[in-house]
Amino acid sequence: MAGLFLHGVRAQNYSPPVTRDSPKFNGKARLVREPYLQLASDTSMMIRWRTDGATRSRVSYGLRQDRLDQHADDLELVREHKIRLTGLKPKTKYYYSVGTLNDTLASGMDTYFSTLPAAGQEGLYRVGVFGDCGALSVNQARVRDEFLKYLGPRDLDAWILLGDNAYNDGTDMEYQAKFFNIYKDRLLKNYPVFPSPGNHDYHDVDFGAEYAQNNHTTAYYQNFTMPAEGESGGVPSHNPAYYSFDVGNIHFLSLDSYGKEEKQYFLYDTLSPQVKWVKADLKLNKNKGWVIAFWHYPPYSMGTHNSDTDGIMTKIRENFIRILEREGVDLVVCGHSHVYERSRLMKGHYGLEGSFDPKKHNVSNASGYDDGSSKSAAYLKKKTVAPGTVYVVSGSASYVGKPEASWPHDAMYYSNATDAGAAIIEVEGKRLDFKWICGDGLIRDQFTIKKKQ
Ligand SMILES: [Fe+2]
Repeated sequence: MAGLFLHGVRAQNYSPPVTRDSPKFNGKARLVREPYLQLASDTSMMIRWRTDGATRSRVSYGLRQDRLDQHADDLELVREHKIRLTGLKPKTKYYYSVGTLNDTLASGMDTYFSTLPAAGQEGLYRVGVFGDCGALSVNQARVRDEFLKYLGPRDLDAWILLGDNAYNDGTDMEYQAKFFNIYKDRLLKNYPVFPSPGNHDYHDVDFGAEYAQNNHTTAYYQNFTMPAEGESGGVPSHNPAYYSFDVGNIHFLSLDSYGKEEKQYFLYDTLSPQVKWVKADLKLNKNKGWVIAFWHYPPYSMGTHNSDTDGIMTKIRENFIRILEREGVDLVVCGHSHVYERSRLMKGHYGLEGSFDPKKHNVSNASGYDDGSSKSAAYLKKKTVAPGTVYVVSGSASYVGKPEASWPHDAMYYSNATDAGAAIIEVEGKRLDFKWICGDGLIRDQFTIKKKQ
């Protein structure tokens, strides 16, 4: 079709392990990993899927399910299929099918995606938040089901992962069984997912844990295509471990808190390439409307991990978060602790829990609730870039664990180590709502941030 530039992306030099699900290819391909969406932007989308044998790739798509009259092909024989569609219209729903040049492997009324809204544009946007999700537990299925029940007929614009996406080692087989198979029916094929890596994503025994931490050679990096070259907005990081992207007027940063960059730097090494990139990205994007950073290791938690004694959590708090606070980052969302914890609007607390002083470190006494109750008081920011950050730990999309003796952390306004849950961020213009949806369907915490201008 005129005006459309289409091309396939060659699969990486990577052969998925042969499993019971992938018999020797006999000429007719079978889908062994359902389609999922990557590299989303306002005008493009990558669709990935996996077949049991090597085939050519075709995505057919169109504005109506009964008229998938546009096609994008890749003639390379691959099992890891990656087709990137470009030249699409912003915030537009497309139906699609995937397959070979001869066969359709997935299609239907429920096989669709929407492009993202144009960067900077205000609207009503929804982004899902799943932390520590890949345990193949009863909780994982319940949280997924209740999250989707809350969503109802509405769509997400995107969803993010807070790391530890497939336990215990983040191997390809674990990713298949505990991530792709669990979320395939609605989330993965309809909504682009923007991941971040956790420590378990670096445990990959197929490659060797220490090797993976240094070299990032692990299934996480094979399974996801990260927008490291600015494909989804933001400053290109040129490194799939960390990147940024825009959903309308929300700017997201996905960071790597466990991998080593250049075999030596962690996120808390403030002269590292990652932190230099964070500074450059925030400088250019802090005025977008909302800025949300997410990664795995939380700076404050007394859940299943202790931010006073854990070295990575301590150093991230001491060295790194001040850089985000300086630029007025609105929200930091982490996982790792299998609990839920939410602070007030706060700033400048870099010490141990015992040094937290509400008078000094809370920017206001607001509860964050905006529900008309006696406690109702949304977090308020007078300008787009203003002091105060809300810190959330939401690491219970699959596991819930016993908290530390000092639970709850003094910096937290609401803490829950009983229920499993995932979250949704809903932004409309200068209002942001964060809701924590539990595995029994109850929203046990929610807060609102409003901006005046
Ligand atoms: Fe973790």
